[in-house]
Amino acid sequence: MAASSEGSGFDRDVVLIGGCGHVGLPLAIAFADRGASVCIYDISEPAVAAANDARLPFDEPSAAPLLERVVAAGRLRAATDPAVVGTAENVVVVIGTPVDDHLDPNRTAITQALGECAPYLRDGQLLVLRSTVFPGVTALVEKTIASLGVQVDVAFCPERIAEGKAMTELFELPQIVSARSAPVRERAGRLFSLLTDSIVELTPEEAELAKLFTNVWRYIKFAAANQFYMMANDRGLDFERIRKGLTQDYPRAADMPAAGFAAGPCLFKDTMQLAAFNNNNFTLGHTAMTINEGLPLYVVHRLEQKYDLSTMTVGILGMAFKGGSDDTRSSLSYKLKRILEFKADEVLCADPYVTDDPNLLPQDEVIARSDLLVVATPHPQYRGLVTGKPAADIWNVLGAGVRV
Ligand SMILES: NC(=O)c1ccc[n+]([C@@H]2O[C@H](COP(=O)([O-])OP(=O)(O)OC[C@H]3O[C@@H](n4cnc5c(N)ncnc54)[C@H](O)[C@@H]3O)[C@@H](O)[C@H]2O)c1
Repeated sequence: MAASSEGSGFDRDVVLIGGCGHVGLPLAIAFADRGASVCIYDISEPAVAAANDARLPFDEPSAAPLLERVVAAGRLRAATDPAVVGTAENVVVVIGTPVDDHLDPNRTAITQALGECAPYLRDGQLLVLRSTVFPGVTALVEKTIASLGVQVDVAFCPERIAEGKAMTELFELPQIVSARSAPVRERAGRLFSLLTDSIVELTPEEAELAKLFTNVWRYIKFAAANQFYMMANDRGLDFERIRKGLTQDYPRAADMPAAGFAAGPCLFKDTMQLAAFNNNNFTLGHTAMTINEGLPLYVVHRLEQKYDLSTMTVGILGMAFKGGSDDTRSSLSYKLKRILEFKADEVLCADPYVTDDPNLLPQDEVIARSDLLVVATPHPQYRGLVTGKPAADIWNVLGAGVRV
């Protein structure tokens, strides 16, 4: 690819708008690792400084040595100046696309971010939308670009990696590539062929829904497992024993997930994006939200039936939204903490990965001072941990069953 910018009139191969985030930085590293010259434009000064110092601002297994290598080789740099957007042939947008307090998607997040960069867009560029977008945003961006009077091709190529697996999945997952015309799809396919041979072509409208359906499907599966968990638990039965029994050598049910807090920056908000897209007529999605978001309430309700929480110190083990991660965005551990703070005498929290919460205490101290523990995140460090304290452990990481 390094060769592709040669003779193209551009200094670099790729620039990523919002490229210091959880999706952007691994992608920037992956392109640079495959020989592309890459620049990041990001509004976060600390994140840009970290990238230029070859420091990862968050955990992503195997990314750190690659980042060091590509920065040292001069193939990756970052800037807070949007003028860098004009330096590369391929412009990839990876900014966050959250929902607001009313669970309403921000339909103009991408076009607003592009507005800051518009003066630097140049004829001949390919603009790739990588963020998960509200359906119709690709068409809106095409319209916006046309109104600017620049000859810029537009493609939507959604990211499908899971955090923590970026540096393998970027090279292994099939890449969905969509654009209005075959030549632009082929052009975007050539960019991603740097990472994978497996390219799936769709129209922009198909690809927008494909990305949302992927995340919502997963969210609904977690909700089904969580409801089964609550049904079994209410009857004094261990859901994990039931799940293990029914999935054993039975491929049709092999994808039934374990119960647990289903949270994080993507699944919930993308379910709400899809609901908004369908005029809020999305019974399955809304029900999944009620079940998944209700699980911390259910756990505390069950604990209240057994214990006088008002006299107890409760310790929460795990504040990240998933096992092995330092990411606390939209973590249900914090919802659990707020519910318990209202009910218990004291709530103490620990997490072996999280570094951005000054209220966390060392794990040993949390265990020693607590009367009761809740394992909120299935970190591998908790496997086989002996605490000597009663524990609610939906994940069964402690190995004593999932009943609460
Ligand atoms: N996190 C995941 O595992 C994951 C997986 C697949 C898809 N996605 C999607 O990818 C997108 C990005 O998610 P993320 O987790 O990387 O978000 P993030 O918040 O970690 O990163 C976004 C980055 O964009 C920067 N930014 C915000 N506004 C900007 C602007 N106007 N101009 C330039 N930079 C700007 C931020 O400073 C930040 O560094 C979202 O649409 C998300 O749904 C995320």
